[in-house]
Amino acid sequence: MGGTTAALTAENVRKRYGRADALAGIDLTVPEGTVCGLLGPNGAGKTTAVRIFATLLRADAGRVTVAGHDVAADAARVRRCVGLAGQTPAVDEILDGRENLVMWGRLHHLTPAAARRRADELLDRFGLAEAGRKRVARYSGGMRRRLDLAASFVRAPRVLFLDEPTTGLDPRNRNEVWAAIRDLVAGGTTVLLTTQYLEEADRLAGQIVVLDRGRVIADDSPARLKSAVGGDRVEVVLCDPSDLAAATGVVARTTGAAPDVDAGELRVSAPVRDRIAALTAVLSGLADADVRVADAALRRPTLDEVFLRLTGHQAAEAA
Ligand SMILES: Nc1ncnc2c1ncn2[C@@H]1O[C@H](COP(=O)(O)OP(=O)(O)OP(=O)(O)O)[C@@H](O)[C@H]1O
Ligand SMILES: [Mg+2]
Repeated sequence: MGGTTAALTAENVRKRYGRADALAGIDLTVPEGTVCGLLGPNGAGKTTAVRIFATLLRADAGRVTVAGHDVAADAARVRRCVGLAGQTPAVDEILDGRENLVMWGRLHHLTPAAARRRADELLDRFGLAEAGRKRVARYSGGMRRRLDLAASFVRAPRVLFLDEPTTGLDPRNRNEVWAAIRDLVAGGTTVLLTTQYLEEADRLAGQIVVLDRGRVIADDSPARLKSAVGGDRVEVVLCDPSDLAAATGVVARTTGAAPDVDAGELRVSAPVRDRIAALTAVLSGLADADVRVADAALRRPTLDEVFLRLTGHQAAEAA
């Protein structure tokens, strides 16, 4: 296998539950050493796909290879080079956090000393240093989630599957998890993560694959995906309705784009390319025109907006 090997290939993968297609024939290629974000709303088929890729579930049709091995014909080989942190944590309640990680390290053939060292590193990394000696039964949901992620990081696998790694985590813990994922990728691991947050895929992934009702509806770089749905926007909310016309003029002139105006909310917005420059220009233009501003923001498109643009329907309807 050379440097151009794909870490994962999927061809026309189908999975049906009863009469409903969970996956209606998906194709996917993830190059080695990259991060792929599988993005989609509830029920899109993300977990089904990850479980098939990680050999936990058999596809009805199609072909999947992971690290060059066929998941159906060569499941044992695939299992040796993948790691998985599922949507529901799989840690042992009776043990404390540190014991869980040491046990995982031992299962992965680390020496006792190496397993303890790795456990302490990971507890630190995932903000669990203090909770390490507490029994997992007493952990909060977010703490369990982080411990489960830490367990999947004990031994850097060649390919790591993370099913919604940061759902339910607060912003600080989310950042810690993102940093840990980046470290792992820097060490050569390929990561496929599912998420419902465009921002998360945008921060981590070089490739975003959007799933909708079991189909791939987009497969592109974050930048191209966002520009396809309109990219970033600058948005201002005014204090005074009589300023609407003046503000619309300023926003149009400074961004060079046609603003959207919500007269009820006193909100004027427009697409921008250079985020900070545009915000600065809009605000100083409004100040020069004596327009009072109640709020100003730079907004990235949300997953809902991406969906609406790509599918013509809201994400929530797909569930
Ligand atoms: N064991 C099962 N039996 C029957 N239907 C299932 C089963 N597992 C999943 N499904 C259905 O398959 C579809 C895809 O589910 P899946 O769990 O893959 O979605 P998801 O994108 O992971 O959603 P979420 O964001 O809620 O985790 C859904 O319609 C779901 O109801
Ligand atoms: Mg899921």
